Amino acid sequence: MSEKKLRSREWFFGPEYYNFARRCYFRSEGYGHEVFDGKPVIGICNSWSELNSCNLNLREVAEAVKRGVWQAGGVPVEFPTISLGEVYMRPTTMLFRNLMAMDVEESIRANPVDGVVLLCGCDKTTPAQLMGAASADVPAIVVSSGPMLHGNWRNRRLGSGTDGRKLFDLYRIGQISEEELCEIEGSIARSSGHCMVMGTASTMTSLAEALGMTLPGCAAIPAPDSRRKAIAEASGRRIVEMAGEDLRPSRIMTREALENAVTTCMALGGSTNAVVHLIAIAGRLGIGLTLDDFDQISRRTPWVTNVKPSGEFLMEEFFYAGGVPAVLRSILPLLHGGALTANGRSIAENAAAACNHNQEVIRPIERALAGEGGIAVLRGNLCPDGAVIKQTAASPGLLRHRGRAYVFENHDQMVAEIEREDLPVDENSVLVMKGGGPKGAPGFPEWGHIPMPKALLKRGITDVVRVSDARMSGTSFGTVVLHVAPESAVGGPLAAVETGDEIVLDVPGRRLDLQVSEGEIERRLAAFRPPRPPYDRGYGRLFLEHVTQAHQGCDFDFLQAVNSR
Ligand code: FES
Repeated sequence: MSEKKLRSREWFFGPEYYNFARRCYFRSEGYGHEVFDGKPVIGICNSWSELNSCNLNLREVAEAVKRGVWQAGGVPVEFPTISLGEVYMRPTTMLFRNLMAMDVEESIRANPVDGVVLLCGCDKTTPAQLMGAASADVPAIVVSSGPMLHGNWRNRRLGSGTDGRKLFDLYRIGQISEEELCEIEGSIARSSGHCMVMGTASTMTSLAEALGMTLPGCAAIPAPDSRRKAIAEASGRRIVEMAGEDLRPSRIMTREALENAVTTCMALGGSTNAVVHLIAIAGRLGIGLTLDDFDQISRRTPWVTNVKPSGEFLMEEFFYAGGVPAVLRSILPLLHGGALTANGRSIAENAAAACNHNQEVIRPIERALAGEGGIAVLRGNLCPDGAVIKQTAASPGLLRHRGRAYVFENHDQMVAEIEREDLPVDENSVLVMKGGGPKGAPGFPEWGHIPMPKALLKRGITDVVRVSDARMSGTSFGTVVLHVAPESAVGGPLAAVETGDEIVLDVPGRRLDLQVSEGEIERRLAAFRPPRPPYDRGYGRLFLEHVTQAHQGCDFDFLQAVNSR
């Protein structure tokens, strides 16, 4: 390996005192001088935290990576970053995705590393690491924590998030007891790893694989499976080679690779959050990925992956069926097959070796679950800059719908009213919630699912159309329109909706419209006053001043590549 290629040499060798001092302090970790003998230094960027149960196995994963790095002649150095535990952090991890991305980027840039292994898992940790690594542009490979084993309660297979929400709704209307809920609490998330449905974590780790940023097959291996450590070890070996080859993220995450990721997301029935994250990753690379790209790709990509919340199975079965490589093989004609991946081969070469062991879990393209992809992009006078809906997780009968709005002016009002048994809504109502966007909430939380009103659940109604400028968990389901842009807090048309207004949703026609005259909408918006910003200092203020809207990826404007602003 050419020593000239190793950026770490600039830290350790040169005429200044600090070149010498850095060697001294590196030696204080107990290494001999041989450690500087032309060996690449490999950073292991670890998002392990006891405040993030989904990433809790990453210390063991890091040890396996280190074994691989040593085997290949590198020197591993593990470092921590902020971690984002989806269910713990308030008001939302999305408020901190960009902070983590900055932490990752600057930790890589500032330190003597020739390559980086990114250890992620829970929802935002994967896009944050990809965004930071894209900007730092030092050779990088992703190893995720892996999905949990399936939940099991009284011999019933459960998917965290998805089934948790359904069972909690039964508890809300008295069909599940306190004792049963306590049993479920101990049964639904019973191993290490991230959520084991095709939620945001599984989607984003699968898309890291589709982007070419992992070794083939990495995403779906369950967290406790011994093969998780084996692929971590192999990734440790491979990153040493990548450092020598100068195989940087910008060579892997090209426009073709990003389109492959969008195509894979549609075939997976993946999380709507992937739209925001992929646009943000593309923005770091100066690639203009738009909502229209998502919709065009969705229209030509069949949904083939039968995993919850859209389908029936869980990530464990998905792994046994062949995982992401089997999906890529199934949709290969729709991919840019020549896209380069972390193992130095093209995505088509990798997919050629894949097998589908269960054609109910991963359908062949001619027996697809639906002719279009999981996500549809909507336009209309209610969302001039777009909105998204996961059409595969919606009720087919509601995909074309006309109904009267019942408006929650904010999340607090929704929480206060949703349990009211006299809430004046019925199966035709359209629940509208304002104030859930990037600036409004702030932070763009996963409030968009809007729990079903108790008044409707008691009548056996389990879905109505819901519309907001918020996101929703990738584990959620229902006829839920999300990411309405511009958001209400900046005076988007959503701010003008009043209870009783008629709303028309037409997913096949890709429309979302408020049946109110343009003049009346303008009159209402002229009277709109934005809410007082909740932060006047610190990171919250930085966020409010620089976060972009949903259709732009919600990155900070100053973090995007200069040519993509
Ligand atoms: Fe971490 Fe679902 S809560 S992946």
